[in-house]
Amino acid sequence: MRILSGIQPTGSMHIGSYIGAVSQWKKLQETGECLFFIADLHALTVPQDPKNFPGQVLQTAVELIAAGLDPEKCIIFIQSEVKEHTELCWLLNTLTPLGELERMTQYKDKSKQFKDSINAGLLNYPVLQAADILLYQVDSVPVGEDQKQHLELTKTLAKKFNQKYGKTFNVPEPLMLETGAKIMSLQNPKKKMSKSQPETCLFLFDEPEIIKKKIMSAVTDTGKSIKYNLEKKPGISNLLTIYSLVGQKSISELEKKFKNKGYGDFKKSLADLLILKLEPFRQKKKELLSREVYVKEILERGRKKAQFIAQATMQDVRKKMGLA
Ligand code: ADP
Ligand code: TRP
Repeated sequence: MRILSGIQPTGSMHIGSYIGAVSQWKKLQETGECLFFIADLHALTVPQDPKNFPGQVLQTAVELIAAGLDPEKCIIFIQSEVKEHTELCWLLNTLTPLGELERMTQYKDKSKQFKDSINAGLLNYPVLQAADILLYQVDSVPVGEDQKQHLELTKTLAKKFNQKYGKTFNVPEPLMLETGAKIMSLQNPKKKMSKSQPETCLFLFDEPEIIKKKIMSAVTDTGKSIKYNLEKKPGISNLLTIYSLVGQKSISELEKKFKNKGYGDFKKSLADLLILKLEPFRQKKKELLSREVYVKEILERGRKKAQFIAQATMQDVRKKMGLA
């Protein structure tokens, strides 16, 4: 079973991307052939500072390893270092109906958020994502819920290509957690926790005092009981989901544990749990930040292995499409 997923180097990793994506990647690396990459080309669809960008990419690599990706068990690489991604993206563009791209939720949201700089890359973003995936003939793509639409387009394009030019691509399936595929903002539990809005995030590498402050001030709901109810208690339900997945306890177990307790006690217990569980990640990140050469070597090894697979696919694609 071959698995692939990516993360953008647009800021530090938060508990949403950790739970929804990276925690799945950690489990999958134990059994599958895994490729994980830093989607630097996708990140350029919104403004980035070229001076800081290489540092951001390296920080993302450091954070992935600190969060538990094992370079001995998976391939970690930088998207732009494997040129086949952009080549396949162009070829897939020729098969992609414009209307499909215009109705993508992420495109609609981002073009609102960055309304002064809507570029064609923002629109073509999902085509590059399809290329990322199809290049490697993968079976599954572990992602959070926000990527569902992009994965649907990937499947559509794979099938369309296969139909038009003959079987070339494996048709991949998304892999999403039943609970935890969409962790919500601590400030507004109706909105997704997202790096593009740092104020909504609990970062994986936040210092203990910051974790405590953010959890204690997380928006909760009217009423007093610690009960899971997405409609009536979205704030408490989100915190219960985080507690349950980080503490490996079922939600009903937690409801029992906090039956006669108030929001304050519950939040304090969650903050303590997070401080304890996230401590090793913070330590590992500190250690890796002083081992830049080691991290760069991992990325170089990853590039070579990824490129080997990507080149084989491209050779087939070029032939099928009648390119020299
Ligand atoms: P964003 O920029 O949206 O914060 P990333 O680009 O870092 O997120 O996303 C990396 C992975 O984490 C993707 O698979 C995405 O679906 C997942 N993810 C991001 N935010 C969340 C969230 N709040 N809950 C669950 N999964 C998430
Ligand atoms: N679009 C994804 C995100 O924002 C990142 C990504 C790019 C990705 N290419 C991918 C995820 C391929 C899975 C597979 O989170």
